[in-house]
Amino acid sequence: EKGGYDYFMLKEIAEQPKAVADTLLGRIDAVGSLTLDEVRISAAELREVDKVVIVACGTAFHAGMIAKYAIEHWTRIPCEVELASEFRYRDPILGPRSLVIAISQSGETMDTLMALRHAREQGSKVLAICNTNGSTIPRESDAVLYTHAGPEVAVASTKAFLTQLVACYLVALYLGQVRGTKWGDEISAVIRDLSHISGEVERVLETMEPVRELARSLADKNTVLFLGRHVGYPVALEGALKLKELAYMHAEGFAAGELKHGPIALIEEDLPVVVVVPSPRGRSVIHDKIVSNIQEIRARGARTIVIAEEGDEAVVPYADHLIRIPATPTLLQPLVATVPLQVFACELATARGNEVDQPRNLAKSVTVE
Ligand code: M6R
Repeated sequence: EKGGYDYFMLKEIAEQPKAVADTLLGRIDAVGSLTLDEVRISAAELREVDKVVIVACGTAFHAGMIAKYAIEHWTRIPCEVELASEFRYRDPILGPRSLVIAISQSGETMDTLMALRHAREQGSKVLAICNTNGSTIPRESDAVLYTHAGPEVAVASTKAFLTQLVACYLVALYLGQVRGTKWGDEISAVIRDLSHISGEVERVLETMEPVRELARSLADKNTVLFLGRHVGYPVALEGALKLKELAYMHAEGFAAGELKHGPIALIEEDLPVVVVVPSPRGRSVIHDKIVSNIQEIRARGARTIVIAEEGDEAVVPYADHLIRIPATPTLLQPLVATVPLQVFACELATARGNEVDQPRNLAKSVTVE
């Protein structure tokens, strides 16, 4: 049932192009508009929404962090993202015009379930983004958008994450479409780009051998740091989480802009630092800033592992290892940038002799608070 792969995780990483395509299936019509009939919250109600609040845990939380950038950009609705376990205990401000989005692969995560129950008690509408049909979270929500990734068996979430991202983009674009923002043309262009993204994920998967080799060469390291900015920041956090849970290594993700506010003190000779570089097109200011960051950490001895778009030549002089990803619209980059980090963590875990599908101390779904 592992389909010829040694681990479910490898199988699930490989299934991502199909999973991503399946999430989009039937949701983009012939003229390139979104049809999300399953979202049983009326267009009129969606036009009234004055705040979006996303609740989730772990990897799903990272998908939520990325969704915030997309939702605020395309809809101009303020969006908060909160760890489900923190949410209800701080007495959050919610009302009938708040739209709460609960993201969960399993649909059984107790923290997320309790957060959505709390939201509904305050009169808010809850939309679930979930991978497991008929599970508790969608059953208790007002509406659900299924990710259709197929069963995810490995404890470390991979294809569920990519499909959660696609579902989040769909919700953001749909909200933009329903409310008619000034980004109409951009929204249509991104919908077109999304329909090609499965092929781009496939292309990334075809170039992963050097990443595996690099991972094996780092098997005796104790620490790996991850840096990113804008949507690359949650990608850095996700890369670090994968490494913790699979390789049992000390791994931390930082917003690159925070380096000077503390983390740069950690940099020492030969410390591996993975940097997720935003597109040099789009938000080119942050691209240039991150290139300076790479220069700064390398000058202090870091071994730089740079994930950058094809054609981005500015990073070349400062990259000890360069991992290329296809060019995508800025907000969609996490769909391609996360894949090398999954492969990296999986290979490191194997090299360290760890159980890839069943890491120690972890369960696939956390059904206690
Ligand atoms: O089933 P859920 O998406 O609600 O699970 C949330 C987290 O427990 C989960 O993403 C966890 O962080 C993964 N093991 C990460 O790989």
